[in-house]
Amino acid sequence: MIVTTKQLFQHAYGKYAVGAYNINNLEQTVGLFRGNLGKSKSNDDPADAKKSAPFILQISRGARGYTDKRFLEAMIRTADVVFPEVVFAVHLDHGTEEACYDCIQSGFYSSVMIDASHEPFEKNIEITRKIADRAHAKGIVVEAELGQLGGVEEDVVGSVCLTKAEEAAEFIDRSGCDSLAVAIGTSHGAYKFAGKQGLHFDVLKKIQQAVPQAFPLVMHGSSSVPKEWVERINHAGGKMPATSGVPESQYLPAAKLGVCKVNIDTDGRLVWCAVHRESFRDDPANFDLRPPGKVFMAAYADYIVHKNTMLGSAGQLESVRQTLADGQGPRPKT
Ligand code: G3H
Ligand code: 13P
Ligand code: ZN
Repeated sequence: MIVTTKQLFQHAYGKYAVGAYNINNLEQTVGLFRGNLGKSKSNDDPADAKKSAPFILQISRGARGYTDKRFLEAMIRTADVVFPEVVFAVHLDHGTEEACYDCIQSGFYSSVMIDASHEPFEKNIEITRKIADRAHAKGIVVEAELGQLGGVEEDVVGSVCLTKAEEAAEFIDRSGCDSLAVAIGTSHGAYKFAGKQGLHFDVLKKIQQAVPQAFPLVMHGSSSVPKEWVERINHAGGKMPATSGVPESQYLPAAKLGVCKVNIDTDGRLVWCAVHRESFRDDPANFDLRPPGKVFMAAYADYIVHKNTMLGSAGQLESVRQTLADGQGPRPKT
């Protein structure tokens, strides 16, 4: 069942964070849906309630252009039929104005992100307001971003600029956004921290106190870049320099301070890379794409279960379904 991120955040706020996972292809999609039901190797495995989680499936502009955006929509609609127990939002990640309008118009996305964080404050508000007005008219919710992460966001090269609490409150009030991505020390990609830096909890606390009560905050660049996956890649012929990401032990403390959505893309790519490198190393005579694909889908599903456990969303699906049945129902039809 496709719902809005707002519906998921109402259930999660202050208790746990919902995992927002980027997908680009079929194997990732199948692994993601299986993982959020605690299944591993087969679609026909029984769902495991203790591991089942609500989730956000997010699609970047890069993913939309990888083959054709219509393949993604068809694949996701099919996954919703193959795995009827799931509850998830379909979200545009790092949208431009043009991409947001296209997704709002399509009627398929339940949530869009307008990323005008590289614009001056007033311009960011103006652009976000326009998107929010259009999206809300169709029952779609809007994530905006204030502050700048480090690293590279598609074609925008960010320079770190942490979100200011006073600005966050004014931005939310004037832009009409439904959730806000804040810069609290993370960055996109595999090369986040050379040393032991973590999240700026002091900044997050100030933001939570300044914004309206129970307003959902979003954390981008949240992959943990696990050492074991980087080692597996390098043992199988990869050449990734030493790096580290957001410690997984910091997800729940961040959730307690209002972070409802935790964006994870890079970690999924590491799982993909390790599995495929190992497959080519260990079975050099194989040229069938399905054996590594099967290993990847199972490994990705298991990894999603692990992430959801660290986010606190594992085991929440039944309660979310109950809450929806009690009142909110699925998202309004557009
Ligand atoms: O924040 C960016 C996401 O990781 C999406 O990456 O633009 O390479 O699909 P992508
Ligand atoms: P990572 O690169 O840390 O996975 O962040 C992904 C992200 O923020 C997508 O919007
Ligand atoms: Zn991001």
